[in-house]
Amino acid sequence: MVHISAPTDRITSICCIGAGYVGGPTCAVIAAKCPEIRITVVDRDPDRISAWNSDSLPVYEPGLDALVKRQRNTNLTFSTDIDRAIDQAQLIFIAVNTPPMPHTHGSSSMGAKPDLSAVSECARRIARVSLTDKIVVAKSTVPCGACATIAGMLRDNGQKGVGFSVLSNPEFLSEGTAVRDLLHPDRVLIGGDDRVAQDKLKAVYMHWVPEPRILTMNTWSSELAKLASNAMLAQRVSSINSISAVCEAVGADIAEVARGCGSDERIGQKFLRPSLGFGGSCFHKDIASLIWLSESLGLPEVAEYWHQVLALNRFQIKRFVARILADTSREGGLSGLGGRRVACLGFAFKEGTGDTRNTPAADVCCELLRNGAKLSIYDPRVPRHHIVDKLAMSAASNCDIDSVSVCSDAYSAIAGSDIVVVLTAWSEFRQIDWEQALKLMSQPAYVFDGQVVLDHGRLEQLGFNVFSIGRAHVTTQ
Ligand SMILES: NC(=O)c1ccc[n+]([C@@H]2O[C@H](COP(=O)([O-])OP(=O)(O)OC[C@H]3O[C@@H](n4cnc5c(N)ncnc54)[C@H](O)[C@@H]3O)[C@@H](O)[C@H]2O)c1
Repeated sequence: MVHISAPTDRITSICCIGAGYVGGPTCAVIAAKCPEIRITVVDRDPDRISAWNSDSLPVYEPGLDALVKRQRNTNLTFSTDIDRAIDQAQLIFIAVNTPPMPHTHGSSSMGAKPDLSAVSECARRIARVSLTDKIVVAKSTVPCGACATIAGMLRDNGQKGVGFSVLSNPEFLSEGTAVRDLLHPDRVLIGGDDRVAQDKLKAVYMHWVPEPRILTMNTWSSELAKLASNAMLAQRVSSINSISAVCEAVGADIAEVARGCGSDERIGQKFLRPSLGFGGSCFHKDIASLIWLSESLGLPEVAEYWHQVLALNRFQIKRFVARILADTSREGGLSGLGGRRVACLGFAFKEGTGDTRNTPAADVCCELLRNGAKLSIYDPRVPRHHIVDKLAMSAASNCDIDSVSVCSDAYSAIAGSDIVVVLTAWSEFRQIDWEQALKLMSQPAYVFDGQVVLDHGRLEQLGFNVFSIGRAHVTTQ
């Protein structure tokens, strides 16, 4: 291990490789809180960098536009000149994507080793370009041991006399609340074995994060804590969703059950909303990574335990679609959805973001299309071409993309439909004038609330047939 320089030297220049959902917002917050630090965010994708330099940022997050636009003309720069930014930085964040490797053909495991090729490419590049000592920080989510591999690559490929110190600093922001999470993190983890480098990174965060929330630890603990946190959050989603299926079978109400459970301080109220399941770029791949890690460590029981969290997540979508088919196919003796029009409200994997990676909405839409439905989709933040591209990618599994229209508001999507399904928990869906919506729909009108966001009692009063996840009854006219 090489100590970088005297511990009192403060970091004044940072480069972040990866201008995505993590790199962009993280650096905007650091720039805002640390005016003396110059930050350059770089990416190999010139379109992404142009978008960060434009009025239309590539990532939607509440509060992000104002932050980026304010800092861009001061200490925050977006560039494609990766080598120059590395050369000029004292500290380099690696915030590139780490997707799961494709499944091995014939393998029944849900585990997947993360593809670290982008991280390795960054490490080799940093080694090649750096002429001065650097602190290299893994912000990407990586499996245990990845930081040691990065350190080995830097050592083997670096210029003579140049020292590197590698830290693990996983990111815990949640899409939809990224700026708030970055400004007020529950904790910041800094894993490593170079105390001097850890202190330097800690000094950056201490501009705005209270010291007790900055936890230093060994590298493996930091890497594993990130995977374990995401696995536990996803497990909680699957736990409440499993109970929602029981509620529907016995006549309990999931909202009441969640309140009953969450009032126990040891359980707590957060993350107990039933839904169509988790999506996004992280939970699936991080659990798959944990399963892969457990299997490779010879812990099949642990792997199987986490496997069930993923299995339950799929089950939730399957049974939601089955419910739509069961309740609506009765009408007119139609089989499947035989040309019925379904208004799909929401497409992003969660409210507050335009991200559609692993969105449950796409799975539901594909299942509905396969069953003969025509879809009118509206999402307040997902651009039309993203919806079409995402469904076209799924067209490989027999989705009829010609039966999809994308609408610019909820009322246009609802007009002429037989069925409304709520696929993302956008609060604006609560503000819909449902009396007017009912008049726009064919009768009898159905609402299937996959995100448990609507006022079901009011909808029933108006005359809708309502199904909501975790509630037993559907009223039929
Ligand atoms: N998205 C989240 O909510 C979130 C939260 C916490 C942690 N993470 C983790 O952070 C990492 C990044 O996630 P993201 O959502 O920002 O990904 P992203 O796909 O939005 O962004 C990654 C960026 O890295 C760029 N890139 C890839 N390889 C590169 C290379 N060799 N050189 C230069 N640029 C390169 C890509 O062009 C892309 O713009 C992942 O490991 C993810 O698991 C994500």
